[in-house]
Amino acid sequence: RQALATTAALAAGATLLPTAQAQSPIVIKFSHVVATDTPKGKAAEFFAKRAAELTKGKVKVEVYPNSQLYKDKEEMEALQLGSVQMLAPSLSKFAPLGVKEFEAFDLPFIFDDYNDLHAVTQGPVGAKLLKKLESRGITGLAYWDNGFKVMSANKPLKSVEDYKGLKMRIQSSKVLDAQMRAIGALPQVLAFSETYQALQTGVVDGTENPPSNLYTQKMYEVQKHVSVTNHGYLGYAVVVNKKFWDGLPADIRNQLTQAMADATKVANEDALKDNQDALAKVKASGKSTVYEPSKGERFLLKKAMFPVHKQMSSRIGEETIKDIYKATN
Ligand code: LMR
Repeated sequence: RQALATTAALAAGATLLPTAQAQSPIVIKFSHVVATDTPKGKAAEFFAKRAAELTKGKVKVEVYPNSQLYKDKEEMEALQLGSVQMLAPSLSKFAPLGVKEFEAFDLPFIFDDYNDLHAVTQGPVGAKLLKKLESRGITGLAYWDNGFKVMSANKPLKSVEDYKGLKMRIQSSKVLDAQMRAIGALPQVLAFSETYQALQTGVVDGTENPPSNLYTQKMYEVQKHVSVTNHGYLGYAVVVNKKFWDGLPADIRNQLTQAMADATKVANEDALKDNQDALAKVKASGKSTVYEPSKGERFLLKKAMFPVHKQMSSRIGEETIKDIYKATN
């Protein structure tokens, strides 16, 4: 009888006592497709730690790396359905949601370096783009950097002609499709989680990715040649389910906003070095020959790919492209 009374008292008090909250933290499931030891993987871990600190344990961020919970396409659906609360998909993966403006980030040679990139992602153009996600039930919180892409295949990739007829894995972006066709390659969309095997079995001949992904997914073990073309950029938008985010108590949302700002700073400070280190490790492995194209070779690649800007402008939206040109001038 005494036990029953205690249980009843606890149950009655539970809704009143603030300490009851501490026992059941708000859980944020954060799913992503890359390895933990990457710019995105590390930033997600940092955010989880910082969120726990700043909310004093009221929020628990569970990070699921390496597509272990969802693959590319499924994770977007899972976010909209509320099965996960947070993701950081690459910017190339938002167009299938109907937000085609994001494909501007895929345009080859649109950014010369990280300074150009940050002029967009850390300024009004970037903020305007994130706002466009709201109509899809998604709130954009930040941009996390990865890096500039290299090309890989089982043959040397020096001149534009070398890409002719190669089946190249791409992310699901029409701009990347056009970019590969512009150099005579045959683009093939595959989930990130399927890429290593597709390269290993010869389903595709090659791919493009920042060195950090090439290295941590061991793609370099099944690609004999890597060319440091830096022809395009791959990075992320950190997004949350809007309903979930708007429904959080204001103090918690503020603390999480701070944790995200801190994680973003760390992520974006480390991304360049992570990619340099990854490329050095690929070189040191001896499994892949890393080629640095000459200025002239890179110029010819740019010349072949640049018409994609015009070709894709009505799809992406001329305004977005102009905004980016202006911000990076
Ligand atoms: C890819 O699919 O190649 C990338 O988007 C993976 C990632 O998230 O970096």
